[in-house]
Amino acid sequence: MSTSSGRATTGDGSGTGIRLHAPAPGWALGADVVVVGSGVAGLTAALRCAAAGRRTVVVTKARLDDGSTRWAQGGIAAALGEGDTPEQHLDDTLVAGAGLCDEAAVRLLVTEGPGAVRRLIATGAEFDRDADTGEIELTREGGHHRRRIAHAGGDATGAEISRALVEAVHAAGIETVENALVLDLLQDAEGRTAGVTLHVMGEGQHDGVGAVHAPAVILATGGMGQVFSATTNPSVSTGDGVALALRAGAEVSDLEFVQFHPTVLFLGPDAEGQQPLVSEAVRGEGAYLVDADGVRFMTGQHELAELAPRDIVAKGIMRRMQEQGAHHMFLDARHFGRQMWEQRFPTILAACRSHGIDPVTEPIPVAPAAHYASGGVRTDLRGRTTVPGLYACGEVACTGVHGANRLASNSLLEGLVFAERIAEDIVADAPASAGPGVPVPFRGPLLPAEARLDIQRIMTQGAGVLRSADSLRAAADALDSLYAAALYDLEMHGKTAEPGVDTWEATNLLCVARVLVAAARRREETRGCHWREDHPDREDTTWRRHLVVRLSRTEKRALVVTETDTADFPSVDTPLRTPVHPILSQES
Ligand code: SIN
Repeated sequence: MSTSSGRATTGDGSGTGIRLHAPAPGWALGADVVVVGSGVAGLTAALRCAAAGRRTVVVTKARLDDGSTRWAQGGIAAALGEGDTPEQHLDDTLVAGAGLCDEAAVRLLVTEGPGAVRRLIATGAEFDRDADTGEIELTREGGHHRRRIAHAGGDATGAEISRALVEAVHAAGIETVENALVLDLLQDAEGRTAGVTLHVMGEGQHDGVGAVHAPAVILATGGMGQVFSATTNPSVSTGDGVALALRAGAEVSDLEFVQFHPTVLFLGPDAEGQQPLVSEAVRGEGAYLVDADGVRFMTGQHELAELAPRDIVAKGIMRRMQEQGAHHMFLDARHFGRQMWEQRFPTILAACRSHGIDPVTEPIPVAPAAHYASGGVRTDLRGRTTVPGLYACGEVACTGVHGANRLASNSLLEGLVFAERIAEDIVADAPASAGPGVPVPFRGPLLPAEARLDIQRIMTQGAGVLRSADSLRAAADALDSLYAAALYDLEMHGKTAEPGVDTWEATNLLCVARVLVAAARRREETRGCHWREDHPDREDTTWRRHLVVRLSRTEKRALVVTETDTADFPSVDTPLRTPVHPILSQES
C-alpha cells in the first residue's frame, strides 16, 4: 500500500479492527505530533519536534519523570574515551546481539551516539567527571571490552537524564498530559495515523477518556517487564505501546528476546513487582559473583568472567543455582570499602540497606529478573513503523540494534539517537494530515484486573529465563484460557470487565504475553537471552532470522497472530520474504 506522502507500508491498512472497550472520548486536543511516554526517547523526540516549530503534546502514564529512564543506574554507552572508537563499540554490540543485530542500525547508533550524548549534555545533563582532568568518567559493564559507560550521580544516571530533559521540556513550554494511559491509535479510512485515545486518571485539566488528534504519533512507552512476576521495571511497564501497535495492525519483532538482568537484589522466592537493580557497573568496578559456598563460578566460563554479556552471566547464575538447589547467588563487593560504596553507588547502597543488607560488610544476595525487552514494534532506521504516521523509539521499539540480547547501557543511547532521527524525519517529511479517525467496530474483551497476577505467574513459570516446549505449551494454554473465558463472556453474554486502568493494563499484558510465548515456542534454538532447555544450541542455518508478528482478525472475530521471518531485517518498506502464516489462533 502506498500513502499520499509516498510512504509504503506492509501493514494491514486500516488496522486489525480491534480496540479496547472504553467510553467515547469526552475531550480532545489537536497537535502536529503526539509523543506517548516521557523517558529519554520520548522527551528527546518532543524537544526536537518542538524546537522545529511542530506543535507537540507529550502524554505520559504517570508523572513526567516517572518512567523507566529514571531507574537506569549504570549509564549510557558511547565511544567517548581516548582510544575508543565507534567500530569497537559496534563489535561489542554485534557480539552481544548473537547474530541478530541489524548492522546498519548498530552503525548509526555507535557513530551518531557520541554526538547525541554531547547534545544531551548541552541540554543540561551533568555526568560524573574526573576531579583533576574534568573529563567524563567512564566505567565498564558486561560485554564491553573497554571503559565506555558515562554515568551520573554515581549510580543515578537515569534520574539525572530525566531531570535535565523534564526541565528542558518545561522551559520549552511543551504541552504535557500526565497520568494518562494511552488506549488506542486513531486511524483514518486508509489506515493513516490520526492520533490516540487516552484515559486521564484522577482530576486535572483533562479528565477521563479523551483524544489527541495528530498525524504523527511517536510511541515511547517503554517496556513490558510487568508481564513477569519479578522485574526491575516500574509498575507502569505493562506493554501498552506494543499492544496498541498490534491492535493498529503494526508489525512487532523479536518479542521472544526478553533480557533477564543477572544481578537483581533477591527479596525472597515469592517476591513480586519491581525489584531493586544492582547495576552491572558494580561488577565493572570489580565486584565478583560467588555461590552458596563462597566460590567464584564465572571465571573459566567466559574470557570476561563476571563481565561477559548479560545472557551468559544470567545463565551462569541459573546453572549454579540449579546445581546447588539455591534460590540465589551472591555478589561480593566488600572490598570496595565504605567510602567507595557511598560515593560511587549511593542508590544501590541505600536500596540494599533498606532491605537489611549492608554490602560494605556482607555479600549481596542476587538472582536474575526480567529487565528489558530487546524486541518490540518493528521500525526502520527513521523510526517508522509499518503503520503510516506511527513511529516508535526506546524500549517499545525494535530498531534492529539489540538483536537477540541488548548490550549493557545501549538502551539510553538508542533512545537518544533514534528519537533524534524520528524528529528529523517528521520535520523533513511531515506525515500527511489525516481526518479525525474512523471508529473501529470490534471492541475486544477486557480481562479482569485480577488476571494480572495470573499472567505474571504463568509467564514466570513457563517463559522465564529457562524455557522448553513443555513449559511454553503450558503457558500458551493457560493464557489462551484467560482469553477464551473473556471472549466467551463478551460474545455469549455481552459482558466484559469494567473498563478502567487495571483492566486495560491486564488486557495489554495478556496481548503481549501471548505473542511473546507464540514466538518463543516457534524459535526452537537457544540464542542470546532466549534459552531453550530442549534446544540448547544456537542453530544459525535455520534460525538466523527474525520472527515478525502481527495480529489480524478472522471472520469469527478471533485474534490470529501471524508470523513471517526475515533473514536480514529489511526496511519496513520492503515486503517480507516468506508468506505470513498463523502461529496462534483463538477460534472460539
Ligand atoms: C545496569 O546498570 O546494570 C543496567 C544497565 C542496562 O540495563 O543497560
